[in-house]
Amino acid sequence: MIRAMKEPPVAIRDMAHDDLAMVSDIERRSYEFPWSHGVFRDCLLAGYRSSVLIRDERVAGYGILSIAAGEAHILNLCVDPEFRSLGYGERLLDAMLGQARAASVGEVLLEVRPSNKTALALYRKRGFFQVAKRPAYYQSHQGREDAAVLAKKLVSGA
Ligand SMILES: CC(C)(COP(=O)(O)OP(=O)(O)OC[C@H]1O[C@@H](n2cnc3c(N)ncnc32)[C@H](O)[C@@H]1OP(=O)(O)O)[C@@H](O)C(=O)NCCC(=O)NCCS
Repeated sequence: MIRAMKEPPVAIRDMAHDDLAMVSDIERRSYEFPWSHGVFRDCLLAGYRSSVLIRDERVAGYGILSIAAGEAHILNLCVDPEFRSLGYGERLLDAMLGQARAASVGEVLLEVRPSNKTALALYRKRGFFQVAKRPAYYQSHQGREDAAVLAKKLVSGA
């Protein structure tokens, strides 16, 4: 709490090509099987809603959301390990939920590793529930790992 009171202000804006070096660096420090720089570039080219959270003129987190056919899919959500537990992940998630609502989407979906207890806690806190399992969805050092599919229905004001 004392740390949070001393934290600088942050802002969320659209991701730009110039952000990709910082985004890829955070990705590499965050995941055992990170997305490549090219995957992020393709997300921008594909028009996915890609956001960055800026702190002291640096990217401190990002989120990628695809919206199609009345459904939104959270493809990535990540906060720089240096800046975790400061509420930034929740702010990015809320920004993505806001984008989905603005697009009149009825449901937001995402995949998460069942072993990722931190992310699961965040998603459950924001009202996501598990609706399915995708067997052997993720790479893992022990072969493949299932994905939990989580969903949140959006109703106006929720
Ligand atoms: C998941 C992630 C985005 C959370 O970001 P964060 O900025 O650290 O999280 P916040 O500070 O916004 O915390 C929001 C909620 O998340 C949960 N949470 C955050 N850190 C946690 C921890 N260390 N242990 C358990 N729950 C935690 C809590 O529910 C928390 O709410 P609370 O503070 O009221 O308890 C971050 O840990 C991350 O980038 N992880 C690596 C990438 C990843 O796994 N992304 C998800 C892919 S599906």
